[in-house]
Amino acid sequence: FSLKKYNTFGIEAKARKFVAVHSIADLETVLEENPNEKKFILGGGSNMLLTQDVDALVVHIDLKGKKILKEDDDFVWVEGQAGENWHEFVLWTIDKDFGGLENMSLIPGNVGTTPVQNIGAYGTEIKDTFISCDAMNIASREMKTFTKEECRFGYRESIFKHEAKDQYIITSVIFKLTKKNHKINISYGDIAKELENKGISNPALKDVSNAVIAIRQSKLPDPKELGNSGSFFKNPIISRTLFNQVKEKFPEIKHYDVSETEVKVPAGWLIEQAGFKGKRFGDAGIHKNQALVLVNYGNATGQEILNVSKDIQKTIFEKYGIAIEAEVNVI
Ligand code: EPU
Repeated sequence: FSLKKYNTFGIEAKARKFVAVHSIADLETVLEENPNEKKFILGGGSNMLLTQDVDALVVHIDLKGKKILKEDDDFVWVEGQAGENWHEFVLWTIDKDFGGLENMSLIPGNVGTTPVQNIGAYGTEIKDTFISCDAMNIASREMKTFTKEECRFGYRESIFKHEAKDQYIITSVIFKLTKKNHKINISYGDIAKELENKGISNPALKDVSNAVIAIRQSKLPDPKELGNSGSFFKNPIISRTLFNQVKEKFPEIKHYDVSETEVKVPAGWLIEQAGFKGKRFGDAGIHKNQALVLVNYGNATGQEILNVSKDIQKTIFEKYGIAIEAEVNVI
C-alpha cells in the first residue's frame, strides 16, 4: 500500500498493511484483532520523513467531528476529533468568533497530532488554550484523559515524544477559547506590518488569521504543490556563553531570550548564512523563501532528504558550534 498520498513530503514508501479507522469502536476492533502486529499510527502525515518502507500495520486515524462542549459568558470549550484537519478546525472557531487559535492558522496536519509536538506559530502554542486530550492505550485499549499538566508541554515537546511515545493514540482534543475580550497577539514577526499594509488598526480574529495566512503563504511552500514538512529543524536553545562566543564572530546573529542562561537562535538564519537557502541536490532541496524548510521537488527519497539534513547539521556545527536537531519525526 503506497503512503505517498499520506505524507506531506510526498515520499514514496510502502506500508505492509494499511487500515483507516473512522470511529473509536473501529479503532478498538483493529487493535483487538491485531494484538501481535507492529503498528504505526498515522495522522495527517505532516511532520514525518519516511526513509524506508513501513514494515507494520499502518493505522490511519480518520476520526471526524468538532463541537462545542460547554460555555459560559466569557469562554467556550471546543472539542475536535483527531482526524479533523487542523486549519479547517481553526477556521471553524474563527467563524464563530472564538479566540485563541488564530495565530496558528494554516499549520498543516490534523487536530490529533497537535499535542504531540505542541505546535505553534507567531507567538502562540497550543498549550496556551489546551485543556486536555483523550487517548487510547494501544496495549490495553483503555481510554485515558491527559490534562495539560500531564502532557508536559515544552517548545515542540510533550510526553507523547517521550514516556508516552508509541503507547497512545490521541483521539480528540479540547481547547478553551475566548468568546469576548480576545487576547489579540500581533507582536510576533510581520503580523503587525501585514495588518498595517491592509489599513487595519483594530484587528478582529479573522483579520489576524488572514494576516498569518498571507505571511505563511509568502514564505512556506504549500505541500500540495511542493512536498515538505514545515520546519525540518527546531530552533536550537543554547547557553548564553555559547551565544556570546558565536556573536563575536557573527555579530548579526538573531536570538530570542529563553531564560537568564539560555537563548533560542533561529535555525533558518544559521542555515541561510551557511549558504544552503534555495539549494537543490537532485530532487531534495532547501526552500528558497525559508531555509528551515526542506522540500521534495518530486521524486526525492526520504534517504536523500535525510542526507541533505545531515549535511546541513554538520555544516552548522562546524561553522557555529551549534547542534541543530530535527523537528520532524524521521522514520
Ligand atoms: N530567517 C532567516 N532566513 C530564513 C528563515 C528565517 O534569516 O531562511 C530568520 C528570519 O529573518 C527571522 C527568524 O529567522 O528573523 C525567524 O524566522 P521565522 O519568523 O520565519 O520563523 P522560524 O523561527 O524560522 C518558527 C517555527 C515555524 C513557525 C514560525 C512562525 C520552529 C521550528 N518553527 O520558524 O513553525 O511557523 O516560527 O512562528 O519553531 C513548523 O514548526 O513546522 C513551523 C513552520
